[in-house]
Amino acid sequence: MQTLQVDLGERSYPIHIGANLLDRPDLLVPHLVGRQVAIVTNETVAPLYLDRLHRSLEGRQVQPIVLPDGESFKNWETLQSIFDAMLSNRHDRKTTVIALGGGVVGDMAGFAAACYQRGVNFVQVPTTLLSQVDSSVGGKTGINHPLGKNMVGAFYQPSLVLIDTSTLKTLPRRELSAGLAEVIKYGLICDEPFLAWLEDNVEALLALDDASLTYAIERSCAAKAKVVGADERETGIRATLNLGHTFGHAIETHMGYGVWLHGEAVGAGMVMALEMSRLLGAISTAQRDRAIRLIARGGLPVVPPEAMTPDDFLAHMAVDKKVLDGRLRLVLLKTLGEAIVTDEYPKALLEATLTANYHDIAEEAGINRESK
Ligand code: NAD
Ligand code: GLY
Repeated sequence: MQTLQVDLGERSYPIHIGANLLDRPDLLVPHLVGRQVAIVTNETVAPLYLDRLHRSLEGRQVQPIVLPDGESFKNWETLQSIFDAMLSNRHDRKTTVIALGGGVVGDMAGFAAACYQRGVNFVQVPTTLLSQVDSSVGGKTGINHPLGKNMVGAFYQPSLVLIDTSTLKTLPRRELSAGLAEVIKYGLICDEPFLAWLEDNVEALLALDDASLTYAIERSCAAKAKVVGADERETGIRATLNLGHTFGHAIETHMGYGVWLHGEAVGAGMVMALEMSRLLGAISTAQRDRAIRLIARGGLPVVPPEAMTPDDFLAHMAVDKKVLDGRLRLVLLKTLGEAIVTDEYPKALLEATLTANYHDIAEEAGINRESK
């Protein structure tokens, strides 16, 4: 087992990463406050892992709260059902909310913990690759609004992130690829050597090779912990973690939550950010193509949805959280392995990015039509 730390003063917390950690009460129990525990999970994850987590909480008063599965349920109604369940069972301020599931469960359970009686103890037990490398770390919680992705929420840090890498054995391949989008993101924004490692190991990751997965999770969590420790509330560098997300969130909102997976939208969104970085002269065509090939090898889409026009993108991007004083800031690359956040780009260049032919770009990068 490997342990990393998110350094946030008295709100610092450990990230434990290893196989079969669901069966380790010694890691979990020290992070509970009182006797009560609400395990928030969903109907897919509960039959797989709820009993094991429950066994590690022996002697506690445990209430499972099983939500419907899917991004389309990341909303007020589902959040309200968590409060209904907790209040009906008289959870007090010493209760602990444990999120057992992917990023959807984690974001909603965390927001519920932030709001319930103005804030109760919270633990993340992420079970998708995406949630293990990204969403469980850093305290962003929230729900979607029909007009914008993750537009309602709170910064609320967990007191523990417990990553059981063996839960990935049951993850569908499409979800594994979605998680790889965020893994590749770290290479692109801050870690060029990791990008090179990913080029050598992406197939091993897709084949669920234990050692490769553990290494990728550790390296991703280390990158995220460092950024969050430096800029918890996203006043600066944390925004770089959103490479591809402004384009990606537009795709998710426009297509309907859950139609494109978050990681898939980020995959195509990163291709758009790469193209815009190339148009700005920050990266070469060869660098853009190298990154696009890796995204495609990860099993991710590299072409945005045909159904979306540039105006569709612009309309959704106007409600992005990176809009400040009416100016849309974008995360772009300075080079492979270094990102910047800027609102200083010619509008024509954004338009060129939105009107570019991504089928042609993918072909230029050497990706054939079938694998796009
Ligand atoms: P998800 O939570 O929808 O999980 C994907 C699917 O896998 C679901 O059907 C889920 O039930 C299933 N599943 C989960 N664990 C499984 C397992 N071990 N075996 C089999 N099936 C399993 O999606 P996700 O990709 O984990 O998370 C995406 C969400 O995370 C989005 O809402 C996104 O906005 C959010 N997100 C948040 C942050 C953050 O910093 N808070 C960062 C990135 C993404
Ligand atoms: N996933 C982006 C962030 O945590 O800031």
